[in-house]
Amino acid sequence: MFQKSPSVPTEGLFCLQIKNGRFFKGSTATVMGSSFITQTDFDLLLDLQQVSRKIGRTPVHAVRQVFSKPRVQVFAKMEWAQLSGSVKARAAFNIIYSAIQNGLLHRGKTLLDATSGNTGIAYAAIGKELGIRVALCLPENASAERKEILKSLGAEIIYTSKFEGTDGAQQVALELATRRPDLYYYADQYKNEHNWKAHYHHTSQEIIQAFPQITHFVCGLGTTGTFVGTGKRLKELSRKIQLTALQPDSALHGMEGWKHLETAIVPGIYDEYLADTVEEIDTLEAYEMIKDAKKHEGILLSPSAAANLVGAIKVAQKLDSGTVVTVFADNADKYGDVIKRLF
Ligand SMILES: Cc1ncc(COP(=O)(O)O)c(C=O)c1O
Repeated sequence: MFQKSPSVPTEGLFCLQIKNGRFFKGSTATVMGSSFITQTDFDLLLDLQQVSRKIGRTPVHAVRQVFSKPRVQVFAKMEWAQLSGSVKARAAFNIIYSAIQNGLLHRGKTLLDATSGNTGIAYAAIGKELGIRVALCLPENASAERKEILKSLGAEIIYTSKFEGTDGAQQVALELATRRPDLYYYADQYKNEHNWKAHYHHTSQEIIQAFPQITHFVCGLGTTGTFVGTGKRLKELSRKIQLTALQPDSALHGMEGWKHLETAIVPGIYDEYLADTVEEIDTLEAYEMIKDAKKHEGILLSPSAAANLVGAIKVAQKLDSGTVVTVFADNADKYGDVIKRLF
């Protein structure tokens, strides 16, 4: 999008000025190497700025009923309280923002990616606000609710084999993008550094601001962006903060959004040396926690959020003192089938 030039802008171009992360239009280039953009691109940047206000800064839930122990606290970020209703708004926004800034994505191109749901919903919600088309490769067995949400947000869905899960969807997305680079910007959330960087720059900052006393961070692995980005930054801030990665205890599991790394394609952004410990979570334990959290904490969690809470409590139970923080990726809104079975 940006054209670097040391001279004054030519006709139809404006000098872009950025102050405190906000965009301004200047009539002349005051600084050598200023960026020049068109009115259309400037409008897109302003829209991006508007959307950024709806991403992140999520509230915190203090866990007091399903776990309580003197001198040990458990907290969770309620990630559904942002645009598109899940933690994936952070990664999707940062991926889109960076692609636009680097001239890879604009209103004439279609964002393409493989997703089992939440990232797709986030891309579609953000794309709709920005006037950018979104196409998603989705395993055909994704839940009916998810398909409906994606369609209602105007995303194009390209169905892929239910037997090959998100790994198969990634393959189809790559093939499409390779064949039509003129049409698609392939976001590739599994390899895109702007996925984990969203959490490195924002999620970790919000956590450290709310809990400067944090001793442990616990989180499940999907693309691994949340764990890797948040964990990396927390470790840089204090080597003493312990990081626990959570994994489903088998390849066939019900924690939608999580990957069983032993049997799946390991995401390119994963850092296998980051976690201090790894805990395995059983889907039935997570389902029990959905019931307990509703009854005692008054929150209706998704399976992966409940699994994060199970993992955080496992870590907390071993401590004499400490502050354990986790992330509730989303709530139960999109998991009607599971909720019907449990209640
Ligand atoms: C419901 C849910 N939980 C957890 C995750 C995992 O997050 P990450 O991809 O940052 O590892 C995802 C990712 O899509 C998700 O949709």
